Amino acid sequence: MNKVSFISLILGFASLTTACKSGIKSQKTIVSPTTKTLLDTRYKMLLDYPVDSLSMPRSMNVKTNEIHKVPSRDWTSGFFAGNLWQLYRLTGDSKYKEQAQKWTAFSKKESVNRNSHDVGFKVYCSFGEALKVENKKEYADVIIKGAETLCTRFDPKVGSIRSWDFNKEIWDFPVIIDNMMNLELLFEASKLSGNPKYREVAIQHANTTLKNQFREDNSCYHVIDYDPKTGNVRKKTTLQGYNDDSVWARGQGWAVYGFTMSYRYTKDPTYLKQAEATAKFFMSNKNLPEDGIPYWDFKDPSIPNAARDVSAAMVMASGLYELYGYTKNKSYLAFADKLMTSVQSDKYILNANIKAPFLLDHSTGNWPKHDEIDEPIIYADYYFLEALLRKK
Ligand code: GLY
Repeated sequence: MNKVSFISLILGFASLTTACKSGIKSQKTIVSPTTKTLLDTRYKMLLDYPVDSLSMPRSMNVKTNEIHKVPSRDWTSGFFAGNLWQLYRLTGDSKYKEQAQKWTAFSKKESVNRNSHDVGFKVYCSFGEALKVENKKEYADVIIKGAETLCTRFDPKVGSIRSWDFNKEIWDFPVIIDNMMNLELLFEASKLSGNPKYREVAIQHANTTLKNQFREDNSCYHVIDYDPKTGNVRKKTTLQGYNDDSVWARGQGWAVYGFTMSYRYTKDPTYLKQAEATAKFFMSNKNLPEDGIPYWDFKDPSIPNAARDVSAAMVMASGLYELYGYTKNKSYLAFADKLMTSVQSDKYILNANIKAPFLLDHSTGNWPKHDEIDEPIIYADYYFLEALLRKK
């Protein structure tokens, strides 16, 4: 038995034990030998993808076999390096580490790119993962530089980091729920540097988001537009959801993951409370399919014919494993296990005949723009691998 299969077996066994002790009926995360082999094959395809600084793999059209490649300025550019680091941690195979080092280096220049809030995704998912494996000062320095850059987008009047600079004719100061994910870079930078500034910015941003981004039912809006002169909310709206009042599935994942992660660094119980409330909204939603993999938006009127979003499921699974760690609420563990079981099947693992550096199929990137619908997308793989490691 190779290392990957052995680790999968241990993970599955651990899940079975937990489910039995808790008495909660959950699907076990034991995956079939065929699925293990399939995943193993897919993992190795990441090593075959040629190293090129302008070709970070982002997604693919499985009908045309075309891989959507992006340069480092794209918000998804850090995930491929992150996937290789995580595969190294899962398998112990140094080939993944060697490739990860090369891809990580390409993201370095993003630590000084002030053009969007995505410096958190780009720098932390690459250099943050690198630092978990190799305790190198050069990695820590890039993380601190990235945090300094992210703080240039913070407005004390609004109490938030500005997410985007486009659509200036529509928005004055847009803040999206995804931005919660970038706070990990700030919290870590304060730990690495001893400078409390980054952490203070992160806390103010989380508090403003907590105040304005959620609805009564604990689902969240995608975009809040602020008036930077007064700090007041101008509009609660969306870019990637079905409409302003709909519930974009990945946004709910970002919220649960983001507030659970912020609790990790602050121990603020209001963050944990919000993460739990939004997780419950997601888990008990009447429009959630039987296997737990959500439609891309909970309010798409074409449900049950709407596209699914595996990436939303994987962000949620990873977030729920951490949430379970703080709350010991077994329903979070059982639900995360269920999601992980669902995706480790022929239905969701990308077909072995498709030669591409992706693991999972059926994510939806930007439905209103008709972009990346029901495709393999790199960040679904990133949070899948992270969830496997967290489970371990
Ligand atoms: N952060 C952009 C997205 O979730 O699609």
